[in-house]
Amino acid sequence: MSTQSLEAIAKSMVASGKGILAADESTGTIEKRFKSISVENTEENRRAYRELLFSAKGIGQYIGGAILYDETLRQKSADGTPFPELLARQGVIPGIKVDTGAKDMALCPGETVTEGLDGLAKRCAEYVKLGARFAKWRAVITIGAGIPSQACITANAHALARYAAICQAAGLVPIVEPEVLMDGDHTIERCEEVTEWTLREQFAALASQRIAFEKMVLKPSMVVSGASCKQQASVAEVAERTLKVLKRTVPAAVPGIAFLSGGQSDELATKHLDAMNKLGGGAWTLSFSYGRALQAAVRQEHGIVTGRRDEQVIEGDFPELVDDDRGPRHARVAEQAVQQRGFPAAEVAGDDGYRRPLRRHCGHLRRQAPAARGLRCSGRWPPSRSCGRGG
Ligand code: 13P
Repeated sequence: MSTQSLEAIAKSMVASGKGILAADESTGTIEKRFKSISVENTEENRRAYRELLFSAKGIGQYIGGAILYDETLRQKSADGTPFPELLARQGVIPGIKVDTGAKDMALCPGETVTEGLDGLAKRCAEYVKLGARFAKWRAVITIGAGIPSQACITANAHALARYAAICQAAGLVPIVEPEVLMDGDHTIERCEEVTEWTLREQFAALASQRIAFEKMVLKPSMVVSGASCKQQASVAEVAERTLKVLKRTVPAAVPGIAFLSGGQSDELATKHLDAMNKLGGGAWTLSFSYGRALQAAVRQEHGIVTGRRDEQVIEGDFPELVDDDRGPRHARVAEQAVQQRGFPAAEVAGDDGYRRPLRRHCGHLRRQAPAARGLRCSGRWPPSRSCGRGG
């Protein structure tokens, strides 16, 4: 593959009006997502669900690239078309997640380093043959008491840069994803500080590994308040702080920045991106590479189609439900779920990055949303997926 074509691929992944669909959940992660709609995690169910996404009519109008998991890259649609080919026919560039996961980092309690460099060049060569044109590697930076450490930021930046070099040499555009997690009660100021630190180190590491910035896409997290911080920043503040950090750290040669959603609701992630594009002023295209924020609604419908309408669970798809400080908003979301989507009762699970006691918000809901009175919660902590009556 010529060097020119890597630039062209990077540009088309984030072409105007398009973003990237992250459909690369590992078998373990998709199990969590499927559980929320009571769908069994079998290979055939994973295949059928991904076919539903990739065969959506007109998907190519809005999606420039789709990130797949190893198993998915090898799967076919019901009529025997390999998924990479199905996507290419729709005008969507197929990509592949190549990291092997974030693992506990030695001597750095509470922190992880992402693995997968061993044998990567060989795997990349096979992925190119199977039709992949870009790759993804996600590093995870956690904010907490005394963390992140310099050791964690340096190790993850180095691994991402080595991955990016191997990809560019193999003919794949690397998506470089250093995610600063939104879990925790930290302020938006702290998130800004850590995001800027992470991105500065990231681009220094990329430069030292000789990465051509024109042939990569950056996938950062937005600068937001910690998910359980009492003071939640406004959409305008998130947009302003995120853009400020990106302008300080991301070279103009990078063609596109495609944000992850990180557990934000689809609505909020979209509002943040919209506000940033309205502010503008950056040299790069600003787009999305959402997983949860693009698939939440699809999954709910898929669950209904697969016949489990009476057992719907609302969890990460409705993060507003677990924010104690927005009672009336909870009520509206629950009411909508119960009435418009036809759920006879709503259950709330808290295992998708939203770790708050359920008792309080269940109280909010019962008081404020008559339609949500079927909601059940034991008030147990940590919350179980399917609670008994009470709370
Ligand atoms: P979310 O948008 O759900 O954060 O997923 C994006 C992704 O690819 C994480 O690696």
